Amino acid sequence: MCGIVGYIGTKKACPILLAGLSRLEYRGYDSAGISTIEKNRLSLMKVKGRVKNLANLDGIDNLEGTIGIAHTRWATHGKPSKDNSHPHQDNSKSFSVVHNGIIENYNELRKFLTDNGYSFYSQTDTEVIPNLIHYYFTKDIANDELKFLRAVKNACLDLKGSFAIEVISKLYPDNMIVVRQDSPLVIGTCEDEKYLSSDIPAILSYTRDFYLLNDLEFAVLTRNMVKFYDKDLNKIEKQTQNIEWNASAAEKDGFDDFMLKEIYEQPTAIRETIGSRINLDNKCEFDELQFTKKYLNNLNKIYIVACGTAMHAGLTGKNAIEKLCKIPVEVDIASEFRYRDPIIDEKTLCIFISQSGETADTIAALKLSKEKGAKTLAISNVIGSSITREADYSIYTHAGPEIAVASTKAYTSQVVLINILAIYFAEILESCDIKILNNIKKDILDLPKKIEETLKCNEIIKNFAKTIYQEKDVFFLGRGIDETVAKEASLKLKEISYIHSDSYAAGELKHGPIALIENGILVISILTDSNLVKKTISNIQEVITRGAKTLVITNQKLDKNMFDKVIDIPETNCFFSPILSIIPLQLLAYYISKEKGLDVDKPRNLAKSVTVE
Ligand code: F6R
Repeated sequence: MCGIVGYIGTKKACPILLAGLSRLEYRGYDSAGISTIEKNRLSLMKVKGRVKNLANLDGIDNLEGTIGIAHTRWATHGKPSKDNSHPHQDNSKSFSVVHNGIIENYNELRKFLTDNGYSFYSQTDTEVIPNLIHYYFTKDIANDELKFLRAVKNACLDLKGSFAIEVISKLYPDNMIVVRQDSPLVIGTCEDEKYLSSDIPAILSYTRDFYLLNDLEFAVLTRNMVKFYDKDLNKIEKQTQNIEWNASAAEKDGFDDFMLKEIYEQPTAIRETIGSRINLDNKCEFDELQFTKKYLNNLNKIYIVACGTAMHAGLTGKNAIEKLCKIPVEVDIASEFRYRDPIIDEKTLCIFISQSGETADTIAALKLSKEKGAKTLAISNVIGSSITREADYSIYTHAGPEIAVASTKAYTSQVVLINILAIYFAEILESCDIKILNNIKKDILDLPKKIEETLKCNEIIKNFAKTIYQEKDVFFLGRGIDETVAKEASLKLKEISYIHSDSYAAGELKHGPIALIENGILVISILTDSNLVKKTISNIQEVITRGAKTLVITNQKLDKNMFDKVIDIPETNCFFSPILSIIPLQLLAYYISKEKGLDVDKPRNLAKSVTVE
């Protein structure tokens, strides 16, 4: 949540910062602000609302400074307002700070500072930071070159919670200091320019060389150099990482919205995810993992932990691992897992799925699992993200940057990867007939083509959306693997169309929810498992009898006259059917949102990367 950018170089900082903020707006969009070093003073311009409001402010074009920081906010402490928006400054206006994260002990710190004569203009947790920096700066009688850094460091060591912070000072007009703990921040570097951002895509058009900071590592930036220090201010060396994503991956490329672009990118994304995971000997390959047959055989349980859509991808992993490897798997929501005292020991493997790799609850759940002695494996889309740095092992989906708040290609690539992982485990364990595994692998390689075929339903879905966009409630039904898709489809619909929806295991309907079925209500069912299709049809019949309108997504041969609308998708192995059956439902959510005139990429109250609990 919240996006921060920074620039230090030879060009005017303001246009670069505004462009960066626009690209980060998916992380939060209720207010925005910028601060630059202008000769011997700090400029400060802030506004409630979107980044475009900031860009339209009178006087913003007059900012000449070549060093600056900027922020787009997703409010946590204090309602969206100009005062509460970042950057924040200390009472003497010597330091400007942008912050992403939450300072949990800000009340104590605020009291401490108030007792020491400081006053506050906002309701934010962040405002304590510049004042603490000022406090330590003025208390420090030394006047050496590390004085600014010492003040930032001392302030940060007082902070409890999560933070990615950028600091500039009018007293140090050629420097910027940045630090992070449990919140994302990357440093892009070119010869005489440095770019800061909450994520890589926002600054990909300037550089592909990045420094990644670990928790409580401080970077002091000048135009030509970055020096790194640990929390005791010992110097540390860092290598840049070259990121292969290209800049156009973070642009809309002629699509109206990122979401539609990302839906259409799924064939390519899945090709990248599969990559060379299936080698020339037709074996699954994960060179980065070192799981032996003995270790896997000894496992009592695998946990798959994630949030939202990533958790739904995890459900498909449970299906595959249990069926192919015969190891019990529990899937849990990260925010619940971490507080329910899960039974974990060295015979537990914990898998964490996170597109961004920065989701606070997922990271906390991972840390807890490590403490309890489990091995941890991260599945992420973002190279070098926090979760991948915490985990014992990491594997990447390689789906390319996902910008739209609603996750689409990240979901399908997660489903592919965790299912390949299940096959890989099964090969090591020799727990499944090789012929079965080979057939599944063949199906994996066919997926990109089948996704392309599935996307041909676009026009049908677009027209169907026109007929149902005013619905107030929608039900999604499925059994087995199809129920996991019902969950994901329901989430997608509600988050971008604001239509209330719920998903149910089809057989569960008559244990209560069927009371909600009334004349004209829309029930969407997914039917891809030939073993369960008859059962689900019986359940659909029950809702038809009670007056429901029905849409069916299927790869089975059905009597189409029974239903109001049927969308056919290509046949594939059950393990992978979610990848195809979700596509019409992603498109449906998208077109309903468009029909309602909503902001598809930036739905209300949401942000892409949830870096707070
Ligand atoms: C829904 C959506 C969210 C995320 C969830 C986890 O479309 O995008 O439910 O899946 O916030 O995010 P990551 O995968 O970044 O941990």
